[in-house]
Amino acid sequence: MSTLAPSQFEKIAEIARDNWGLDLTERKEKLVSNRLAKFLRKSPFEDVEAYLNHLEHEADDADMLAFFDLLSTNVTSFFRESQHFDYLEREFYTPLARGNLTTRGRKIRIWSAACSTGPEPYSLAMHAMEHLTNYEKWDVKVLATDLATSALNEAKVAMYPVKMVEELPEKMVKKHFLRGTGEQKDMVKVAAHIREMVTIRRLNLMESWPFKGPFEVIFCRNVMIYFDKPTRERLVNRMYDLLSPGGILAIGSAETLSGLDTKFQTVQPSVYVR
Ligand SMILES: C[S@@+](CC[C@H](N)C(=O)[O-])C[C@H]1O[C@@H](n2cnc3c(N)ncnc32)[C@H](O)[C@@H]1O
Repeated sequence: MSTLAPSQFEKIAEIARDNWGLDLTERKEKLVSNRLAKFLRKSPFEDVEAYLNHLEHEADDADMLAFFDLLSTNVTSFFRESQHFDYLEREFYTPLARGNLTTRGRKIRIWSAACSTGPEPYSLAMHAMEHLTNYEKWDVKVLATDLATSALNEAKVAMYPVKMVEELPEKMVKKHFLRGTGEQKDMVKVAAHIREMVTIRRLNLMESWPFKGPFEVIFCRNVMIYFDKPTRERLVNRMYDLLSPGGILAIGSAETLSGLDTKFQTVQPSVYVR
């Protein structure tokens, strides 16, 4: 049963919208209420009212980030929505190798916006290494950003349960992951040569971005689903400005730019080009 009064849920939705662009509809009430109840049991706050009061009047950045962590959903996986990786292989790495496409010198910059715990940016790095002919001649870097503290910490540690890589080709796992031993025998760690390609930073997509790009590729997947239409429109147009001409934007397969006022060209469902 819900423990939230309608006015409390409204207050939470207002904080989530104003700070992080999250559009918490009433369908999320149960989820929010359960997570909040779990959090409150371990917190010094007497009840929801006291916690909301604290958030409204005396919260510092750390308090707000803890609240964001509580609301955010970090589900992700390696090579999730493989059609986006197939697109990159077919329309980006292969034409680059054949000389049918040029980039800025040898630089390839990729942004995993809302990277969660890291499988997305690490997949992008592995994929570039696997599919870019004469990889060593290129300068490939992946920027990985998210706002959730727990997700960012996991991304930095880069250690995952073995079952998260079970579906990947064995050859790839052997090449790009280290198998744990002893107490960590059911874990794998992303190998250093892949971790070195990825820079992990905290970033609230709603705020100003401390980098200018340009990026050849942006993956912004399964995050816009939490934003309302004006927020999505603003966000993708900011990303458009940060892409090189011909740059690629992949969004989640359950998401679309249709109905948004943008200059992007659709090249396949959930893949767009500047
Ligand atoms: C479901 S995960 C998607 C992870 C990955 N992109 C994928 O598709 O597998 C959504 C992520 O968006 C992040 N997120 C939500 N709102 C955000 C915001 N305003 N700024 C930055 N990250 C945000 C959450 O912390 C979460 O890690």
